Amino acid sequence: MKILVTGGTGYIGSHTTVELQQQGYDVIIVDALFNSRVEALDAIASITGKKPEFEQFDLADRQKVDDFFRRHGDIKGVIHFAAHKAVGESVEQPLKYYRNNLDSLMNILESMNKYGVENLVFSSSCTVYGEPDPENLPISEKAPIKKAECPYGNTKQIAEEILQDSIMAYKGLNAIALRYFNPVGAHESAKLGELPFGVPANLMPYVTQTAYGIRPFLRVFGDDYDTPDGTPIRDYIHIMDLAKAHVKAVERMLQGKMKARYEVFNVGTGTGYSVLDIIKSFERSNGVKLKYEIVGRRAGDIVKIWADPTYTNKELGWKAERTLDDMTRSAWEWEKAYREGKTCFKIDENN
Ligand code: UD1
Repeated sequence: MKILVTGGTGYIGSHTTVELQQQGYDVIIVDALFNSRVEALDAIASITGKKPEFEQFDLADRQKVDDFFRRHGDIKGVIHFAAHKAVGESVEQPLKYYRNNLDSLMNILESMNKYGVENLVFSSSCTVYGEPDPENLPISEKAPIKKAECPYGNTKQIAEEILQDSIMAYKGLNAIALRYFNPVGAHESAKLGELPFGVPANLMPYVTQTAYGIRPFLRVFGDDYDTPDGTPIRDYIHIMDLAKAHVKAVERMLQGKMKARYEVFNVGTGTGYSVLDIIKSFERSNGVKLKYEIVGRRAGDIVKIWADPTYTNKELGWKAERTLDDMTRSAWEWEKAYREGKTCFKIDENN
């Protein structure tokens, strides 16, 4: 059973490829390597024993996507990760985000319809909920979609609408949108993990790089929020739990178990943790002290959001199993292994 994983050399895509292969699927990856490294293929193979097939091109190129699907008649499902995801950059370069994230989705849907590939899993985000009203926490799939805070978030909202309209129109297509909360951590082998280019925008890689001495200190963006310790709350989810949710979604489609041709699932643990909780867990589980300073708030940050995963637990038959300490421990093991040259990835001194 062959699955196309777009963005399969990226953080979530590479971990999901490992899980798919270990469940017996063949994976073909398409990635333009805009924000990831080709060594991810060897890293995957070092865990699973099998290097996935790979083609490098930009999915925003309609002709190339058409050509790809024409050549690969054996693909049974698609998991579409490939997208830009930096909130701040999307504010400065909105058209880069709209063009890349939406053109690639439309090209894939068009070719799936043309060549009879029925099943698509789409990488969505809890960002579609915006800042939830307090009575809607924990947040379920039924909560209202609020106006997006940034162009990146808007691409996820528009993408979900494109999916719904396409599924209505093209009777051969099915789609599942997985709304991720905050994926963190690394594969337990420490052979694969999150490897951002440049200064990390997200919390966990900033934490691990600070602990390793790459960054002088972590800036905690605000401690005056309306939360128990004043720092924002998120639903952090272990990357391998998230990877498993994708395999469940693929199985659900291939086994014809969908209740509707378009479905949406929250993928979170159901527990919210603050930024200070993350720091404490990191220090506790790794026996490492982390240098940090409280600085001003970051523009556009949500105060608190965490998932109600009840529907996903019941319907998808998936539940997050790993703890916060598993997340912070695996993230640190990965950072050390990478910096010490124990992985397939070339060490980038500037990164
Ligand atoms: C954001 C997006 C999310 C997107 C994800 C991937 C929103 C609301 N969320 O998640 O949709 O998928 O990025 O890029 O748009 N923090 C610090 N110091 C740091 C970095 C982060 O204190 O150096 C804090 C933030 O203020 C926040 C928490 O850590 O409270 C998590 O931040 P981050 O990892 O960037 O994720 P989100 O902003 O939740």
